[in-house]
Amino acid sequence: MAKLLLCFFAVISLLQCAGALPPYDYEGFALKGTRENASFFELPEHPLKFQSFYPQLAEVLHEASTGPCLVSLQAYEGNLTARRELTKYGGVGNYCYLQNDCILSSIYPSTQANMAAASVLLGLTPTILANFGPAIPEIALLSSRRPLLSLLLSMGAPATYPSRFLLFDNPVHLLRRPERPSILKISRMPLRFAIAISFFQYVLAIVAITNLITTSLDLGQKTVVSWRCSVSWLPLMWAMTPIVCHAPAVLSFEVYRRKVKSRRCSDKVEMEQDTNMLHSAKDSTEDPLPFHQTSDNTNARSRQPRSQPYLLRRAVRSEFTISANADTIPIAKESAAVHPGAWSIIFQDIASLFGILQVIFGTAVFSSLSYIGVEDATVLLLRYATSAFCCRLIMYLELEGMILVARDKEGKTSSNEN
Ligand SMILES: *[C@@H]1O[C@H](CO)[C@@H](O)[C@H](O)[C@H]1NC(C)=O
Ligand SMILES: *[C@@H]1O[C@H](CO)[C@@H](O)[C@H](O)[C@H]1NC(C)=O
Repeated sequence: MAKLLLCFFAVISLLQCAGALPPYDYEGFALKGTRENASFFELPEHPLKFQSFYPQLAEVLHEASTGPCLVSLQAYEGNLTARRELTKYGGVGNYCYLQNDCILSSIYPSTQANMAAASVLLGLTPTILANFGPAIPEIALLSSRRPLLSLLLSMGAPATYPSRFLLFDNPVHLLRRPERPSILKISRMPLRFAIAISFFQYVLAIVAITNLITTSLDLGQKTVVSWRCSVSWLPLMWAMTPIVCHAPAVLSFEVYRRKVKSRRCSDKVEMEQDTNMLHSAKDSTEDPLPFHQTSDNTNARSRQPRSQPYLLRRAVRSEFTISANADTIPIAKESAAVHPGAWSIIFQDIASLFGILQVIFGTAVFSSLSYIGVEDATVLLLRYATSAFCCRLIMYLELEGMILVARDKEGKTSSNEN
C-alpha cells in the first residue's frame, strides 16, 4: 500500500515538474511542398488567442504555451525575432495554427481526452439549450402585445426551439389549448404589483442578455475553434442569431393578424348591409335597437381616423402591461375561421428552417472548441441555460396570463350569447 502511494506521488510530482513537457519538433511540422508561407509582417487579429484559458486546464495549457511552444507563441503575437527564428526550421503556413498544433501535440493525452469528452458535451449544447428557450410561435404571439419584451426575449435566449419544418403552428392555438395543467394559478394582479412584475421582467431579460453576451465573449477568447483559429466571435454570433429566426415568425403572425382584421371589417360591412335590407323590407317596429346602436357606434368610431398620440399611448400601455392584466388579447376569438394564408405559412416555415440551421451552426461551432475541459464545459452549459431559462420563465408567465384573459373573454361572450 505504502509503495503504491509512493508511486502515485512520484507520478504526480513528475507531471507537475516544470520541464515535463517535451520540446516541440518545429522542423518535423514545418511547411512542406508549394503551400504559401504566411506573410512575415502581418499582425495577428485581435483579441489575441492563447492569452487566457478556462481554469480546469489552464495550468497545463499555460505550461505548454510558454514552455515548448514559446517561440511560436511569440511569432503568433507578431514578434519579428521569433518569426525569423522559425524560418530556420522551414516555412510557416499560419502562425495561429502553428501555435495550436504545438500546444495540442505537447499536452498530455489525458488532457486531450478531457477536451474530447468536453467537445461531445459542447456539441450537444445547442440542442439541449433549444429545449430551454422560448418557442418560435410563442415569441410571435407575444410580439403582438409586447414587441419590446419579445425582442429582448429573442435576444436573451441562446437557441430557438424550432417547430417541425413544414408544419404550420398557429400561435393563436397556444391560447386555446384545452386546460393545460399548470401549477400556477395566475389571476389579475393589483396594479402596483403588476407594474413591479413588468419592471422585473425587463430587468430579468436584460440580465439574461448580458449573461449571454459575456459568456460568449469569454468563450470566444479562451478557446480556439479548430476550423477558424484566430477568430473569436463565432460563439457570440451563434448566440445572437435566434433573433434572425424569430423575425420571419413575427412577420408571419403580423400578416395573419392583418388578414383576420380585414376579414372582420368586411364581415361587419356585410352584417350592416344585411340589417339595412332587413329594415327596408320589413320596416318592423321591433327594432333591435341596442344591437343597431352599438354597431353604428363602433362603425362611427372605426371610421374616424384615430389620432397618432392615442395609438402611441395605447401601444405603450400595452407594452408595459403584463398579459394577465390585459383587457383583450388581439384576435383571440375571431381567428378561428380564418385560414392563415400562404405568406403567413411560408414565413413561419422560413423561421423554423432558420431555427434548424441555427442549431446546426451552433453544433458545428461548439463541437470544434478546444482548450476547455468537462468541468468548465458543464459550467458553461449551465450559464447558457440560465439565460435561456430566464427567458422561458418570462414567456411562461406571459403565456399563462394570455390564456387566462382569452379564456375569461371567451366565457363572457358565450354567456352573453346564451
Ligand atoms: C521576441 O522574441 C525574442 C526571441 O524569441 C525574445 O528574446 C524577445 O524578448 C521578444 N520580444 C518581445 C517584445 O516580446
Ligand atoms: C517558405 O519559407 C521558407 C523559409 O523561409 C522557404 O524555405 C520556402 O521556400 C518558402 N516557401 C514558399 C512556397 O515560398
